[in-house]
Amino acid sequence: MILLVGGSGFIGAAVARRLVGQGSDVAVMTAHPARSRERIERMGARVVAGDILEPASLDRAVDGADAVLQSLTFPTFPAEKPRKRYTFEEFDRLGTERLVTAAARAGVGRYVFVSGAGAAPDASEVRFRAKWLGEEAVRASGIAHVIIRPSWVYGPEDPGLNKFVAFHRWLPFVPVVGDGSQRLQPVFVEDVAEVIALAVTRTGPTGTFEVGGPEVLTMNDVLRTMMEVRGKMKPLVHFPRFLPGLAAFFLQVLPRPPLSPEAVDFATAGAVADTEKLRQEFGIRLTPLRQGLSTYLAG
Ligand SMILES: NC(=O)c1ccc[n+]([C@@H]2O[C@H](COP(=O)([O-])OP(=O)(O)OC[C@H]3O[C@@H](n4cnc5c(N)ncnc54)[C@H](OP(=O)(O)O)[C@@H]3O)[C@@H](O)[C@H]2O)c1
Repeated sequence: MILLVGGSGFIGAAVARRLVGQGSDVAVMTAHPARSRERIERMGARVVAGDILEPASLDRAVDGADAVLQSLTFPTFPAEKPRKRYTFEEFDRLGTERLVTAAARAGVGRYVFVSGAGAAPDASEVRFRAKWLGEEAVRASGIAHVIIRPSWVYGPEDPGLNKFVAFHRWLPFVPVVGDGSQRLQPVFVEDVAEVIALAVTRTGPTGTFEVGGPEVLTMNDVLRTMMEVRGKMKPLVHFPRFLPGLAAFFLQVLPRPPLSPEAVDFATAGAVADTEKLRQEFGIRLTPLRQGLSTYLAG
């Protein structure tokens, strides 16, 4: 049995569908069964209750698993909510330590951890330092493991590019925070899922792999490609960073803010990956952006 922790999420669900399609026995752990049960069962996977914040629930969840995938984050990502323990430290560092400890105790044979391109001990952003410390816990576990570091993942359910698709649908222009010159290496979620599915099921390469798409593009180029695929060009309108940043600052008082200062930072961050090792050891063909977008956006 393969246990997908975070298998109801954007990346995890793409992996779950692929593994179920290949005939694997897949269980998806969720901390929110009321919300995620139907989605998990529709994918053809079993539902297992478990919460990355509760160690005892993890022991129950990993029981009987041959392999574990960890691809999760807290519900308010990228905005931390310390009172709810929704922090990078709790999920990416301590959560990984809790889950990999439970997996080692249960004799799990293979562990795949979805980290992020940029993970480093001295990274300036807390999310990348926490990812690094999570990676270190996996490396120290003694379990055969694959660490996947994706760059900027897009697909039919992504929380990033789809916001711009909605702007493009409803506005006469597409708003961009900053000058849109940050460099991205967009990778199709199906390519990430293919790598992860190979990593959890076969006794092939182990180690740490950065995963990005075949092109490095600016945010402006990504948005122009998205508009071309949708068949209608509209102007990109660039807003100085401080404007949405200011709006986000005041919107923080709302219970469910539509914009947070962290989301503004996230929207202007670059994300590139070195895919050489991935191509060599996984032999995967990476999908160009236009081709990936055409599978779900072409009109
Ligand atoms: N998306 C990207 O572009 C990208 C790029 C680089 C790296 N990554 C990394 O990939 C991972 C997955 O990202 P994603 O975009 O697929 O995330 P996502 O769609 O937000 O999914 C988050 C998952 O976490 C689970 N979860 C939330 N709270 C939990 C808890 N307390 N205990 C156990 N599970 C919990 C959710 O399941 P339930 O709600 O069912 O509990 C859900 O399946 C993250 O670590 C992220 O940092 C993503």
